[in-house]
Amino acid sequence: MRLGIISALYEEQQGLVEAMQSPYKLVHGMREYFAGQLWEIDAVCVLSRMGKVAAAMTAMTLVEKFQVTHILFTGVAGAGDKSVNVGDLVVAESLVQHDMDASPLFPRFEVPLTGLTHFSADHQLSLRLVSTAHNFLEDEFVSVISPEDQQTFRLSQPRVHRGLIASGDQFISSRKQLEQVNQALPGLVAVEMEGTAVAQVCYEMGVPFAVLRTISDNANEDAATDFMHFVKSVAAQYAFHIVKRFCLASKEALA
Ligand code: ADE
Repeated sequence: MRLGIISALYEEQQGLVEAMQSPYKLVHGMREYFAGQLWEIDAVCVLSRMGKVAAAMTAMTLVEKFQVTHILFTGVAGAGDKSVNVGDLVVAESLVQHDMDASPLFPRFEVPLTGLTHFSADHQLSLRLVSTAHNFLEDEFVSVISPEDQQTFRLSQPRVHRGLIASGDQFISSRKQLEQVNQALPGLVAVEMEGTAVAQVCYEMGVPFAVLRTISDNANEDAATDFMHFVKSVAAQYAFHIVKRFCLASKEALA
């Protein structure tokens, strides 16, 4: 297994790169790729930056230049539904581009010439991710997230959801915007800006992948408030500890 780990934000990647054994850095296409061992798993960490094109080119480089065999994406997302709260975790079951519309040539949301609107995440990797996320919340959440941050972000009993994630080149920051996406794509659990691009590249290249998102906001008018504070003090912690558990579980599965 050679695991490509894509983070959308610098804060999420930092801890992983510091934890890497015998890392080496390679700069390619305006990105820094860190290759090495993470908890005995051969890994390559990279920051995708935001948006679908940025994510697609990063995923493709991981596959073509670094020969990764699996991809894990970690980042933050807006809640896609009222049942999903800030501080919850979402693991993608399938992913769709909410801003893809080549109608009337192709049905709305269908990626032309793939015949697909939705891309499925790898079942096995996603189940491993769900279980490591659950274990993290149960065993480590209270010790890793300070009581002040738990209070500031009203993080009481965060949960893990598995379901549909919608990606688009838009930061969703109004109720109206979210309602429009939700009406067209019922059953959404999260909205973000990269996952489906990674999903399409992985589908076309035959690489299994999984997507983990920490809910940072309700995709409404308050979405940008405290965003960076949340990323640093909550999402980066979640990502680090869950990726660590994910690597350890993957090592066990390979043994
Ligand atoms: N990532 C985190 N929050 C988001 C939002 N509200 N819309 C799109 N991407 C996001």
